[in-house]
Amino acid sequence: MMRIVSLEEIELNVYDAGEGDPLVFIHGFPLDHTMWKAQLEEFSTTQRVIAPDLRGFGQSEDSPGIVPMERFADDIAEILDQLQITVPVTFCGLSMGGYVAWQFWKRHRSRLRRLILCDTRVIEDPPETKQNRRQTSEQVLNQGTAQLAEAMLGKMFSAQTEESRPELVDEVRRTILRTSPMGVSAALLGMAARPDVTSWLSQMQIPSLVIVGEEDTISTVQEMKKIADRLPDAEFQIIPGAGHLSPLEQPALVNQTIRQFLAVH
Ligand code: MLT
Repeated sequence: MMRIVSLEEIELNVYDAGEGDPLVFIHGFPLDHTMWKAQLEEFSTTQRVIAPDLRGFGQSEDSPGIVPMERFADDIAEILDQLQITVPVTFCGLSMGGYVAWQFWKRHRSRLRRLILCDTRVIEDPPETKQNRRQTSEQVLNQGTAQLAEAMLGKMFSAQTEESRPELVDEVRRTILRTSPMGVSAALLGMAARPDVTSWLSQMQIPSLVIVGEEDTISTVQEMKKIADRLPDAEFQIIPGAGHLSPLEQPALVNQTIRQFLAVH
């Protein structure tokens, strides 16, 4: 199920299970492949499911400095090469995983069959967010990820999740606490440097599914609706009772939405 995939300069930890039409899940920041647990269980029964820990996250090795979203996208293409997956894949990314999805489309278009975008954005960060990210990137290198964990946990979940599923919040806290400060720091710098890709959307002639938690305050319903409207061939689904981590918070509804999308396209 889990395997180490050796790329030219780095070893990555990759979930790989099932057979058939490949479906790739890319986690958000600062998480790892375990955020997709419910999706991995569900979809590996019917197709090949690939879910890496991006470099610097989970059990993957990290690399210092800055990791741009383009680097993450190229890592995924290299993973597919190593796994000898040559057919186009369905790419499902959440938040930072969505930032990587845009770059995967730009750089590896022929490898893409469908796109699933969960709780993500297309605009670049405003100047104050870039500045915050740079400060946080320094802070985690010096002090670890504990402060970041609390700041993120305050923004990630719906009121319902916070009230009724404290164990889920704790699980995400543990994931963030065990994440490498170097990996977190490099991804923060990479996110701060990412371009605005709004103008790409109208060219993305590919079946797409846009999913957003009704209470997502990081990538809001309004913002994601605009993304869906600009994509030439997109479906749009709001997930009630979910915040920013809709696949984790409302797995049954998200899985059902993805299943229907895969069946039709
Ligand atoms: C994520 O969930 O990946 C982050 O919220 C992305 C971000 O910080 O922009």
